[in-house]
Amino acid sequence: MAMDVGSDSDSSPLLSLPKKKENNCTIVKFAVAAIAVGVLAIFLFFSVVGNSKNGEGGQCNLFNGRWIPHPSGPSYNNGSCNFIDDADNCLKNGRPNTEYLYWRWKPYHCDLPPLDPEKFMNTMQDKSWALIGDSILRNQMMSMICLLSKVEEPVEVYHDEAYKSRSFYFPSHNLTIATIWAPFLVKSVTDEDDDGKAKNEIQLYVDVLEKEWEANYHKYDFVLISGGQWFTKTTVVWENNQVIGCHNCREKNLTELGLEYPYRKGPRVGLQLHQQI
Ligand SMILES: *[C@@H]1O[C@H](CO)[C@@H](O)[C@H](O)[C@H]1NC(C)=O
Ligand SMILES: *[C@@H]1O[C@H](CO)[C@@H](O)[C@H](O)[C@H]1NC(C)=O
Ligand SMILES: *[C@@H]1O[C@H](CO)[C@@H](O)[C@H](O)[C@H]1NC(C)=O
Repeated sequence: MAMDVGSDSDSSPLLSLPKKKENNCTIVKFAVAAIAVGVLAIFLFFSVVGNSKNGEGGQCNLFNGRWIPHPSGPSYNNGSCNFIDDADNCLKNGRPNTEYLYWRWKPYHCDLPPLDPEKFMNTMQDKSWALIGDSILRNQMMSMICLLSKVEEPVEVYHDEAYKSRSFYFPSHNLTIATIWAPFLVKSVTDEDDDGKAKNEIQLYVDVLEKEWEANYHKYDFVLISGGQWFTKTTVVWENNQVIGCHNCREKNLTELGLEYPYRKGPRVGLQLHQQI
C-alpha cells in the first residue's frame, strides 16, 4: 500500500494551501490540484522505475513549472481513444478551436517525459490503483486509460449507476485502475440532482471519511486523492456530530468557516486511516 501524499499533510504538494483565507484563490488551488494529479501519476511511475531526470542538486519539484507549447500534440485524440465519454468529448460536441491541446507541463528544474504506456503497464503488472476524488480526477483517470489503451484495451469491470465510480481492468497485465467518487473526500449528504442543482445546503461531516473510500481502500496498491471545486459550494460543516459552522450560508446564523478548514481536514482523516495499516 502506498499513498503519495506524504505523512504530514501540510508538506504535501496536493494539500499545500496558502495560510490566508482568500476565496478568489479557489480556482487557482483547484487548477493546481488538477495539474498535480495529472503529473502525480507520471511522477509515481518514474519514481518507481527510477527514470526521472533530475535537475541540479537532484531537485525536481513537479509542481513548480509552467505550461509550454507542445507542437506535436497529445498522444491520443477523440478518434484514437474509445474511452472518452460523450459528455467529455469536446471535439465531437463541436468545440471549434483545438489550440488548447498543444501544451505540455514543464517543471522548471527537470523534464517530465511523456508517459511510456508500455513501460508503465509492465511495471504495474499485478497492481491496482484507485483515484479517489471528484469528476476532475475522473477525467484524469479516463485520460490515463486512453494513454494505456494503446498497449491493451481495458475492460470496464464496474461502474455505479451514475458512472461516477468506475473500474477498468487490463487482463494481460492484471492491472486495475479505478476511480472512487468522493468529491469532498469526507462524508457529505446532499440532495443535488445529477446536474449539480442543490435543493438544500450540502451537509459536510469533516471527521467522517467518505464511505466508499473507507470501505475499499485496502483493495488497492496505490491511492491517489484530489478535490477542490466542491468546497466552494454552500456547505453546513459538522464535526463531532454537531454543526460547527458553514461555508457560504448567507441566511443562516452560523460561523463562516471558509474553504480551507474542510479542505485540510478531509485528507487528514484519510491519512489517519491509511497510517493505521
Ligand atoms: C473527432 O473530432 C472531429 C472534429 O475534430 C469530429 O469530426 C469527429 O466526428 C470526432 N470523432 C469522434 C469519433 O468522436
Ligand atoms: C493479479 O494480481 C493480484 C494482485 O493484485 C494477484 O493476487 C493475482 O494472483 C494476480 N492474478 C494473476 C492471474 O496473475
Ligand atoms: C446568532 O448567534 C449568536 C451566537 O450563537 C447569538 O448570540 C445571536 O443572537 C444570533 N443571532 C440571531 C439573529 O439569531
